[in-house]
Amino acid sequence: MRANFVLIVSLIVGVGVASYLFSVHQVHAAQQAMRAEVVTRSELLTESLDVSVEPLIERRAYRELRTLVERFANRERLEGIAIYDDRGALLDANSRFPASLKTVPGAVDKALAQDQGAGDFFSLDGNLYRVYALPLHRDKKVRAILAVFTDASFIRAENGEIWREIFLRILVEMLIIATITVLVIRWAFMGRIREVAEWMRDLRAGDGTAKPPVFEGDMFKPLAREVTHLTRSLMLARAAAEEEARLREAGESLWTADRLRVYVQSKLEDSRLFAVSNREPYEHFHQGRDIRAQVPASGLVTALEPVLRACEGTWVAHGAGDADRETVDEHDRLGVPAEEPHYTLRRVWLDKQEIEGYYYGFANEGLWPLCHIAHTRPTFRAEDWECYQTVNQKFARALLEEMRGAERPVVLVQDYHFALLPLTVKERFPSCRLAIFWHIPWPNPEAFGICPWQRELLEGLLGADLIGFHTQTHCNNFLETVDRALESRTDWDRFAVNRHGHFTLVRPFPISVATQDGNTSLASPAESTSVYLERAALFKELGVEAAFMGIGVDRVDYTKGILERFSGIERFFERYPAYRGKFTFVQIGAPSRTHIKRYHDLFADVESEAERINWKFQTASWKPVVFLKRHHSHREIDRFYKAADVCLVTSLHDGMNLVAKEFVAAREDDQGALILSRFTGASRELRDALMVNPYDTEQVASAIYFALEMNPEERTARMRRMRRAVKDNNIYRWAANLIGELSEIRVEKGEILGQPSLIGPAVRRLRE
Ligand code: F6P
Repeated sequence: MRANFVLIVSLIVGVGVASYLFSVHQVHAAQQAMRAEVVTRSELLTESLDVSVEPLIERRAYRELRTLVERFANRERLEGIAIYDDRGALLDANSRFPASLKTVPGAVDKALAQDQGAGDFFSLDGNLYRVYALPLHRDKKVRAILAVFTDASFIRAENGEIWREIFLRILVEMLIIATITVLVIRWAFMGRIREVAEWMRDLRAGDGTAKPPVFEGDMFKPLAREVTHLTRSLMLARAAAEEEARLREAGESLWTADRLRVYVQSKLEDSRLFAVSNREPYEHFHQGRDIRAQVPASGLVTALEPVLRACEGTWVAHGAGDADRETVDEHDRLGVPAEEPHYTLRRVWLDKQEIEGYYYGFANEGLWPLCHIAHTRPTFRAEDWECYQTVNQKFARALLEEMRGAERPVVLVQDYHFALLPLTVKERFPSCRLAIFWHIPWPNPEAFGICPWQRELLEGLLGADLIGFHTQTHCNNFLETVDRALESRTDWDRFAVNRHGHFTLVRPFPISVATQDGNTSLASPAESTSVYLERAALFKELGVEAAFMGIGVDRVDYTKGILERFSGIERFFERYPAYRGKFTFVQIGAPSRTHIKRYHDLFADVESEAERINWKFQTASWKPVVFLKRHHSHREIDRFYKAADVCLVTSLHDGMNLVAKEFVAAREDDQGALILSRFTGASRELRDALMVNPYDTEQVASAIYFALEMNPEERTARMRRMRRAVKDNNIYRWAANLIGELSEIRVEKGEILGQPSLIGPAVRRLRE
């Protein structure tokens, strides 16, 4: 109420002052105009009189002069006409000439002195007059002055009238403004505020379904956005607290984002968390005139993003989007996610040559096929190796810049792109705790041994305090490789390597996904209507008529066994023709690393295989395979996960494979079957999946049939057990285990790695 009053009074005062200033100007202008009119009229009259008077003066015809003066003196507003002699004494005047004007006005003296017309306004007895004096000549000399007096008092009267009108106008304006303000406050503001308040009250009362008021395109939009975020955060916090209480009550030890946050804070105390990866969590791209953020198709991003959200900190990554430079500050940083920043993304820029050599070349034509047993020969080029080293140094520099001033920072380096980074960083910042997580398999020593720079890679990695792999087998392979390639002591009891006095622990940390904190569904095993409808809607969007849906989600990579999967699907239709026209397999394939010929060719092969199979079986309204060859957002993919009858993961070799876990996590209805390659890390945990050897086409075909024919109780039981496994071992547990293990390691300040003698011969060679 008080605010309304203040607003109205402020508006009235503001508008009043503005109107007054404009009015002053307006009155002044009107006054000037009236004066100008008086001046013009009196001068015209005087000059027209002059023509008649001057000859009479010349002839000294004073009687005629008086008659003339009397005739003119009847004009409107003319107060009097007087004639003065050349010394300024009154010679003659009209008969009604007021006595008060008989004093010689200054204008007469001025006209005499300057021998030209002179005019003046003057006040007398409360009246305003205008006198205009004009010299009259005889024998070319000034003999007399003709003075015409005009009554200008009407100017003052008019002024008063104008001010009265202005006052009335301002009064009416103020009344209108006050009324409009009250109405606007009531209808626009109070109405909106009431809507927001009601919505927030519903939310506070626990109605999570309450819809926020729509503020499309109006001034309340930013406020509504912030309130929405705030309320969402509060709802999430409440849900998390309730979940924690429920878990405590049920004696469960589930890891949640909140639990991880608290745990990491207690472990890190005042230290900060840093992550380094090649792939960034948000890429920015130009789309027409806009810039759009995209979460890339990457298991690493899927896994690490929730951890950074929960723990905050800084993530250093390659800025690969074409609009990335336009979205960072002067330190190449930005807060992400944009709608509610939780952590800092620091982008590192690479030029084309660096991307060619380091990313496409050494990392993806060398290390990737080296570590995956998928029968693609690794290619090692010296120039790629050069680039790999340069880029590792570049990322190390960026990371060190970010860590400047941090007390005992904790660093999580990600993946095979940065094998050299741990040693470089630990040398320069010995007090940091550094772990590297290797997201891909580690092959046996013979396989790894073909890499010409295996020793340098191993030395770089052993700079870390902790090395993580998905499985124990990969840990064993790594330790055996170190054993064979380097001079070091492997402690098989502790699973650690002692190299020149620096210990590196090697541990399995099976990576996972973020799971919904809610309870596993106890819904009836029967398929819910919404799943059925969603499936029908998706088929409609795809232009296919079918009853059952299979789904595959992959980057188009030769390790993912997509062609092998297609062979299994083809065989399935050959062996079980009753499913023709009923089952459609949707393959979501994000193009990946397409500058590498092997990937480029594979993409074309996948396309043509899909076409070939379709040609073989398709009907007018049905297709066996739909290949969606573009990047899909998590939200888009989630619809398919939720609607599919079966998900196929047929990797030829895979460190973990998070698609399998994402599918399971998405099935809140406990429905859907998972066919899983036994060559994935995920197969160690998801024991209730239908395990297949992707090279065995008959087995893949049988697994599809089995998945579709499985009785609903069994399907539910299997999915529930898998969901339990994913929930128990979710990404928060992964991060807690990794960070927990890392924080337990004793790091001696600069005593071990700072000494050049402790750097192995391979790395020394590199530096020379
Ligand atoms: O599997 C290793 C990995 O780095 C994953 O973490 C990620 O899903 C994938 O490769 C992404 O590859 P890229 O970043 O080259 O597209």
